[in-house]
Amino acid sequence: MSKPCMPITPADTHYETFLNELRQIVGGDAVLTQSDISETYTHDWARDEIGRCLAVVKPSTTQEVSEICILCNRIGVTIIPQGGHTGLVGGAQQKSELGCIVLTTQRMSCIEDIDPDNMTCTVQAGVVLERLQTELEIKDLYFGVSIGSQGSAQIGGLISTNAGGVRVLRYGMMDAQVLGLEVVMADGSIQSSMTGLHKDNRGPDPLRLMIGAEGILGVITRACLRILPRERYSATAWVGCASLEAALDILRYIRKEGYEVLAAFEVMSDSCMPFAALAQEQYQAPLDAPVHILIAFSSSMDLLLDYHLETLLAEVMNKDLASDVIISQSEAHGKHFWAIREGLVEGHAKRGYHVRSDVSVKLSIIPEAASRLETMLAKEFPGWIPQTYGHFGDGNLHFNALPPDTLSEAEARRIGPSIETRIFEIINDLYGSFSAEHGIGRKKIEWFQYSLPERHETLAKIKSVLDSNYTLNPGCLINKTDTK
Ligand code: LAC
Ligand code: ZN
Repeated sequence: MSKPCMPITPADTHYETFLNELRQIVGGDAVLTQSDISETYTHDWARDEIGRCLAVVKPSTTQEVSEICILCNRIGVTIIPQGGHTGLVGGAQQKSELGCIVLTTQRMSCIEDIDPDNMTCTVQAGVVLERLQTELEIKDLYFGVSIGSQGSAQIGGLISTNAGGVRVLRYGMMDAQVLGLEVVMADGSIQSSMTGLHKDNRGPDPLRLMIGAEGILGVITRACLRILPRERYSATAWVGCASLEAALDILRYIRKEGYEVLAAFEVMSDSCMPFAALAQEQYQAPLDAPVHILIAFSSSMDLLLDYHLETLLAEVMNKDLASDVIISQSEAHGKHFWAIREGLVEGHAKRGYHVRSDVSVKLSIIPEAASRLETMLAKEFPGWIPQTYGHFGDGNLHFNALPPDTLSEAEARRIGPSIETRIFEIINDLYGSFSAEHGIGRKKIEWFQYSLPERHETLAKIKSVLDSNYTLNPGCLINKTDTK
């Protein structure tokens, strides 16, 4: 079958031929079409966008991914690589064009090797993060990235989006965990840097460009990841304070005194609390305060974490920085604190359409950033409910805006983009990032191009070299979709 001059559609006579060629590569059961394509593949987690595709293909090996790339390149069908589909910026789905297939890595789910001597593991791209965490825990090991969607998010997608989460202040983002990658390039060639070596300075590894590239430069098929000793000891506290300025002072103090064991420092404004309870009634705020902080200490060795956390927080109270402190009394109690934090995201989704953001600024100006965002919302979009929360310890805030009850969804969706623009303008003015951890996807390309034109242009040049036919995820991350 040769390359058609127009994007292939189900009405075309060669559509069936194409599907048969796909079936020959992966097997009949691993190609889904039309009504067999469930919402998992077409709707992102937030259900903000609905994607369309000619087919969903489920390879189980690197070789199959390679053959799919060769076929699609030859006939001009584009490929949308997809992992757990938990991203929030539309990076793993295409809105309107039918000339694409979704390539899901879900069947590439083998944990091939866990090496406690080398402190590495080797996995296929479709391994779900939570499963990897569980397998490692059994062996007294640990993985440094933890995110709310870890029950679905897959390693390939986490690397492609350079996921962050709640442990970044301690272990860094996904890029810090990657030692080596195996990647199928757009032309179907397979490249690997899976040496498992911690030190290897034979020039820069070009495959590291795949980290955060959102599937536009190659399809990640396997990864060699750094692992850690299991955090066998932990202490968790819920702290109430008067303001984000106070939260910053608390962070300064706790980080200075407990740097080596500080694992997480999450903050939520009090207005977020009812939405955690909306997810599940038992997710009630453990205390009353304008600002809530979730602090976690952890270590592989027994360092009397509860004692130290309690002592430090007593000092924080003595300094009048905090109004109230609850130290978790058991592992289950600590998990409940975390469930409240994760629950609020579910609560927002349950309530319906809302404006979501993912910004970062230098730590010292977080309070100013939040105050400017909240003032903007109150003045310019009266009735919208501000939700300030996030990974305060690494400078990352999620400032969400929930529409007033009185507004129809259609009206809220009409106004939402103007709020997003204002958030972007304020954060840009503060020299921050409009996407701290969620990436660019299809939703944030214009801002990306506008605020970082050189980076966008350089990526477009790299894309044109590595994928000159624009086969992989066109329309994601960079604006250019075609060279012709
Ligand atoms: C979180 C996601 C939204 O922090 O990034 O819960
Ligand atoms: Zn987050």
